[in-house]
Amino acid sequence: MDDFAALRLQLEWGADEALDDLPIDRMVARAVSQAIAQAMPQSRTAAENAPVAAVRSPPAAPAPLQAPQARAQEVANAANTLGELRAAMAAFDGCALAATATQLVFSDGNPESGLMIIGEAPGAEEDRVGKPFVGPSGMFLDRMLASVGLDRTQYLITNLVPWRPPGNRNPTDSEVALCLPFLLRHIALVKPQRIVLMGGMAAQSVLGVKTGITRLRGRWNMIGIPGLDQPIPALPMLHPAYLLRSPGAKRDAWRDVLTLRRHLDSEGA
Ligand code: URA
Repeated sequence: MDDFAALRLQLEWGADEALDDLPIDRMVARAVSQAIAQAMPQSRTAAENAPVAAVRSPPAAPAPLQAPQARAQEVANAANTLGELRAAMAAFDGCALAATATQLVFSDGNPESGLMIIGEAPGAEEDRVGKPFVGPSGMFLDRMLASVGLDRTQYLITNLVPWRPPGNRNPTDSEVALCLPFLLRHIALVKPQRIVLMGGMAAQSVLGVKTGITRLRGRWNMIGIPGLDQPIPALPMLHPAYLLRSPGAKRDAWRDVLTLRRHLDSEGA
């Protein structure tokens, strides 16, 4: 079956949503595992042939991420102001991304505005300037929000991950998990009245769900943030970088921006 026929079959089965950002080439994965199997010695000892489930091993050593993650949590919780949080994050050496990035990209805009927008991770321009959403997708986002009368004096904008992943790759799950305590503390210190989650990665990580952004977008969710008494309404939207690549999705994005505008109007914000 050729690639196109396989894709059409998936559509007929109702698989209308990509779960991963990039396709997984399972033919390559199979070829790699066959190559590994061929490279294995043919004769094995009885112990090597024992079923894997029967193997007992000492309790696993803590995963290498646990220590930095606990430290991130501790450092984040110790910050009592945005200035302290920014300084603590800039000094944090537990995330490998900090070593390859030029600088920390903290947040930009107005922390008193009541609206917090959360993107994914800095790109090249953000890394150079030290502010979120100042590259091509940031400029597009500025225009989208300006169309409903919002500029950076009316929101605070930040990212799930505050350091640029090398080559603009997506942050890994463990990088996101490591940085999440910083973002949650950032939210707790800002105490926004509402949050916008830009793109699938921000939405899934903050809401703690696996649902794709095409299903999540445009609907308000109440989220509990550690350190805050009240849950906060959060609106997932399509990421501006995705909209630049898929102009057909701009219609949905426009609906979501209007949903945000209506919410702000109804709250007198
Ligand atoms: N720039 C950012 O700061 N965040 C994104 O998610 C994309 C571009």
